[in-house]
Amino acid sequence: MDQDFAGKVAVVTGAGSGIGEATAVLLAARGAKVIVADLDADAAGRVAKEIGDAAVPYTVDVSDPAACEAMVRAAVDMFGRLDVAVNNAGIGGPQAPAGEYPLDGWRQVIDVNLNGVFYCMRAEIPAMLAGGGGSIVNMASILGSVGFGQAVAYVAAKHGVVGMTKTAAIDYAQQGIRVNSIGPGFIDTPLLAAADQEVIAGVSALHPIGRMGRSAEVAELAAFLASDKASNTTGSYLLTDGGYTAQ
Ligand code: NAI
Repeated sequence: MDQDFAGKVAVVTGAGSGIGEATAVLLAARGAKVIVADLDADAAGRVAKEIGDAAVPYTVDVSDPAACEAMVRAAVDMFGRLDVAVNNAGIGGPQAPAGEYPLDGWRQVIDVNLNGVFYCMRAEIPAMLAGGGGSIVNMASILGSVGFGQAVAYVAAKHGVVGMTKTAAIDYAQQGIRVNSIGPGFIDTPLLAAADQEVIAGVSALHPIGRMGRSAEVAELAAFLASDKASNTTGSYLLTDGGYTAQ
């Protein structure tokens, strides 16, 4: 396997499960030291143990700006630099039509899925500048470019992630930091565990390839964007969606 990340230090949020876990595992396999950051300390510990010496578990709530700053400080204290950040932590939130959407659910989804990505970037960028540059990958969704019923907060947050990504990419294009976002279609992860089987089957059928995506497929795109192979790619929003948004 190539070693794109030899000597590099990466933070992956939401790395205790699903897409974040697959991304942390892949970056480590390609040579990175990885901070496996998650709200769920046990999950972060499990994934870091699975990876081995290259990983350190870290407990963070990305909706707390001070916690995001502490996470980046910890990475730099431990490994001396920060090269890669995959801002992936996210939640699904309640399902309800816009006019009845619960206010606490709205705030929680915006806090984690939108504000959390901003707080992480805000902490990561100075650390990357200090090291001469870096690459940030923000986990958006196909719902960063199209709507989906009963998910007004999630859709708003993911559209926001795509916009923040483009803007931060412009802000730092001259300073060696690339910022990109990913739009996965529906991916078979624990995030969807709450949805009933009928919904899952219906959602799978919405993808022209006839199935949901896999975490490892998203991780491959995240690793590409995080690597120097993507040196001309910044401000982009790249899909891995089985054709969902091509229709
Ligand atoms: P998951 O539920 O399997 O994993 C998310 C992880 O984030 C969990 O380990 C959870 O503990 C952690 N987390 C939740 N809130 C947090 C917080 N405040 N601070 C730190 N960590 C927190 O979810 P999955 O499916 O792997 O999703 C990862 C990202 O991919 C999310 O941003 C999600 O919106 C996005 N995504 C997922 C899709 C899917 O169909 N599963 C499709 C498109 C995007």
